[in-house]
Amino acid sequence: MATPAAELDLPFYEGRDVEQMTALPDGHWLARNFFGYAVWHYDDAVGILRDKRWHNAAGRIPELMGITNEEFLSRQGISILSAEGDMHTRLRRLVAPAFSPRSADRLRPFMREVISGLVDNVSAAGRADFATDICEPYPIPIICELLGAPKSDWQLFSRWANDVLEIFSLDVVDKLDLIMRTQDELDAYTRELIAERRSKPADDLLTDLIAQEEAGDKLSTDELVMMVNAVIVGGTDTTRNQLGCAVNLFAQHPEQWAMLAEQPELAQRAVEESMRHFGAVRGTARFASVDIEYKDILFPAGTFMAVGLDEANHDATVFHQPGVFDITAQKGDQPQLTFGSGIHYCLGQALARAELQEALPLLAQRMPNLRLDGATTWKPDGVGIFGPAHMPVTFDAGH
Ligand code: HEM
Repeated sequence: MATPAAELDLPFYEGRDVEQMTALPDGHWLARNFFGYAVWHYDDAVGILRDKRWHNAAGRIPELMGITNEEFLSRQGISILSAEGDMHTRLRRLVAPAFSPRSADRLRPFMREVISGLVDNVSAAGRADFATDICEPYPIPIICELLGAPKSDWQLFSRWANDVLEIFSLDVVDKLDLIMRTQDELDAYTRELIAERRSKPADDLLTDLIAQEEAGDKLSTDELVMMVNAVIVGGTDTTRNQLGCAVNLFAQHPEQWAMLAEQPELAQRAVEESMRHFGAVRGTARFASVDIEYKDILFPAGTFMAVGLDEANHDATVFHQPGVFDITAQKGDQPQLTFGSGIHYCLGQALARAELQEALPLLAQRMPNLRLDGATTWKPDGVGIFGPAHMPVTFDAGH
């Protein structure tokens, strides 16, 4: 008979601390935390994320943060970011083709153009706040291009993205009015864009999503609108913070930065290794949709489980010398987990990988001798996404 989790004598896990968790004696694989429990070994992280009975806690975050607004809560329900079961499977099946590596690849020349333009702004000075000058603006034009929104609307998107992303802030309850107002504006805009694409198809994600049809099933306009919202929520802050984390690492490993400039073919390795070593999404959470027995322990329905992706990415049983950042080494056979695992595995991974693979070697070539120039200010390590808020750097000017 499985032992109920509540009866176990477990260590308490206060926050994200790779060293604290990976230093626990062998055999420890479960801890208690503020909301429920936590796992951090690679096999447990993957085991939980691949078990469909553990539901995504994203949909429960607003509720946990004290939001009671019915309209807001019901809107989140149809988003792929929080949907579960048949609804999730259906949404995922309908939208997956539009997020294929091939769709991402067609944006690669545009990605290079955007990153080059951003470097042009700071190149002569030989110094920049990498977080605000490069990371912050990078994903917006790409998301706009992906969706097929005109260039004249980039500023608008940038503001919408910032406001909608307040959903991840710790004072989300106070920001609810702003978030809902922005969602309304974005809704109205997207509906217009959808109507336009229905009558005049183009070479963009929205047209692909509209055209996606399987066995007579199609996304409704409401679902299309929520998809656009999910792309903005899932695709902007993640990418910009991941770029910041990666470049922060490279600034401390100048020999690998120089190597990447000389051998741009290392881009793919550079992206995987920086996401493994310093991922912008350091953990996620699930709750038990039914009573679940796992490793002879019973987790009753409703139990919350934090999944430490960062810790799993440093699991010494899976990755060779996990504490060492090295873009030339083959660290192991398993993938890094910063895009998650299982049915909620990042839908935008091909796009995100392409964005980072295009940006990093180009930056390494145009910002040689990149160094940190003073302290980096980090975003608060709260719900969701981590990265630099300010990151002063110097580099050789004029490249
Ligand atoms: C480096 C950048 C990115 C990182 C680190 C990242 C990370 C993640 C992770 C960890 C998940 C799974 C969350 C969970 O299981 O709890 C996820 C899901 C998702 N991501 Fe990303 N992501 C990135 C970029 C993007 C981009 C560019 C897009 C869209 C264009 C996107 C859209 C989504 C969506 C829609 C989901 C939900 C998928 C589902 O639940 O079926 N992401 N992402």
